[in-house]
Amino acid sequence: MSLLRPFRDIDPGSFKAAWRSPSNIAFVKYWGKKGHQLPANPSLSMTLEKCYTSTKIQFEKSDDLEVDLLFDGKHNAIFSEKVKKFLSSLGEELSFIENTKFSISTENTFPHGTGIASSASGLSAIALCLTDFLYEAKGKHRGEDFFEVASFIARLASGSACRSVYGGFTSWGDVSDEFATPFEVHPSLRTLHDDVLVISSEEKKVSSRAGHERMKEHPFAEARFTQAKNNFELLKSILQNGDVIDLGRILEEEALTLHAMMMTSPEGFTLFKPKSIEAMEKIREFRQETHLPLFFTLDAGPNLHLIYPPSDAKRIQPFIQDVLKPLGETLIQDETGKGPIRC
Ligand code: PMV
Repeated sequence: MSLLRPFRDIDPGSFKAAWRSPSNIAFVKYWGKKGHQLPANPSLSMTLEKCYTSTKIQFEKSDDLEVDLLFDGKHNAIFSEKVKKFLSSLGEELSFIENTKFSISTENTFPHGTGIASSASGLSAIALCLTDFLYEAKGKHRGEDFFEVASFIARLASGSACRSVYGGFTSWGDVSDEFATPFEVHPSLRTLHDDVLVISSEEKKVSSRAGHERMKEHPFAEARFTQAKNNFELLKSILQNGDVIDLGRILEEEALTLHAMMMTSPEGFTLFKPKSIEAMEKIREFRQETHLPLFFTLDAGPNLHLIYPPSDAKRIQPFIQDVLKPLGETLIQDETGKGPIRC
């Protein structure tokens, strides 16, 4: 049953909502879909703290669905159109949407194209505002199920956005394919550093949407989904037992498999840059020499997320500053986050 069913008969009305919602980085990657925005394999991510989107929405009754979106204070026609298309797709279940004007104002704390998923933070922030309106209109208490509904809505906008509605670590495709759930980890891994080494902030040539699509005809798809399911189970027990070395092995295997899938898909494409590979090699050499737990993962792009525990930060950070930072355009320092905030 759709989680939106209880909200079907809502009347359009006036309401204001404001949320700030973080981005996340997947440790086990979602790459490939089935059905209607459902994942071909389970995924697990870490929520970020400093990289988030702040969004305000004013809901008003109107003759038609209207979306006016300001991004960083300026009207943005492309984002307005994208969000309108998404909201319109919800109209089948939430008929009030067809008679609502959405005035949206949104800003990010991090720049676009830096390997930090702005779709995850931006679309989860919109989903949280919309869920706020649904609960208000129904006079429903905002309990635990609030975040399941928000995650369900966010998933329909962008799969990875459904994992951004919780702090800490989040899984999707385990308890349910339709929404994400929080995942409790060992106290020693509750906070990890994530320094994003921005190798290139150029717009990527192939969107995630097109990448997911290419998994449909991919000769290695089934093997990949099996690997991801195995890595998901392994990662869950690693995160619960607190073994940082095994965590790193899975992180890097997942990142490299994601990119291998892109390179070997029909009409293959490469999002790595030579400097991305150089940075990965330098990290592996550093690890061999020092045995310190510094690992990398990548999203769908050339930039590296450098993951390490706070207990070794003092010994790892000089290497990041002196050796890795000069390989990139910039370094964004973040860590495990506490989750979205209602403003
Ligand atoms: O949420 P989408 O459709 O943009 O897909 C994101 C896929 C990856 O970021 C590459 C992996 C993930 O699980 O976040």
